[in-house]
Amino acid sequence: MIRKLTLSALAALSLTAAPALAAGVTGHVEDFAFSFEGPFGTYDQMQLQRGLQVYTEVCSACHGLKFVPIRSLADPGGPQLPADQVRAYAATLNDITDKETGEDRPRVPTDHFPASGLANAPDLSLMAKARSGFHGPYGLGINQFFRGIGGPEYIASILTGYTGEEKEEAGTTFYANTAFPGGWIAMGPPLADGQVEYADGHSNTAHHMAEDVSAFLMWTAEPKMMARKQAGFTAVIFLIVLTSLLYLTNKKLWSGIKGRKLHA
Ligand code: HEC
Repeated sequence: MIRKLTLSALAALSLTAAPALAAGVTGHVEDFAFSFEGPFGTYDQMQLQRGLQVYTEVCSACHGLKFVPIRSLADPGGPQLPADQVRAYAATLNDITDKETGEDRPRVPTDHFPASGLANAPDLSLMAKARSGFHGPYGLGINQFFRGIGGPEYIASILTGYTGEEKEEAGTTFYANTAFPGGWIAMGPPLADGQVEYADGHSNTAHHMAEDVSAFLMWTAEPKMMARKQAGFTAVIFLIVLTSLLYLTNKKLWSGIKGRKLHA
């Protein structure tokens, strides 16, 4: 009971402290509700497919995913495209220089996605794990215990955080963004309502597309998350069973001695 109380008190503390911190240098990160949150959360296959589509049609013009093997698009737990679609997708990406022949050839599923086409656009393969959206309070990180690290939330908040203001500095245009640390980002707003036509009829507002592509980028950064959670769950069950057996063994071993009267 006491533990429960302190936990909820901590939760209240962390939630109230967040807006105060968000006003500082870290930028404001919106808490999106992703399907893969929590100990039992899983990726939503349709969302990953939509996110792949947004990445392909919009972000890939500048950003690469050079650590992601194309064949992983067929893996269970991911977008899980059929093998023929993965082959067809690989062929639409730009050519790769073959390591053995030294000649350019079309990409095949065993190749990786291309690297960033624009020099100052960072690779997005691991971006969802390289950034955090939630901090504090007071550097303790307790917020992350309740709301997650916030990498995908950070990406989605950047994509939806443009205020419309622009400025030019040293020949570069910067765009005001409420989520980007410092408040000015060198990436123009990449998403506009209705920009990508979804095959599954899902809403394609900029907000939804941002959510989908961020979920996809969480998957590229941690493709084995579902297997990891399952292994963790199995381990916890195993430990509970082991604990009860050890408890009973201990009770049985000592029963002869503990049952005895001291001054009989
Ligand atoms: C026209 C090129 C272009 C497009 C299209 C584009 N970006 Fe960017 N992006 C950039 C550049 C340039 C930067 C570096 C900005 C900076 O450091 O100020 C950047 C930075 C980022 C960052 C890094 C923020 C950080 O913390 O460092 C993320 C995340 C990001 N882009 C996601 C996306 C996503 C997702 C899409 C597709 C919806 C996208 N971008 C489309 C050019 C682009």
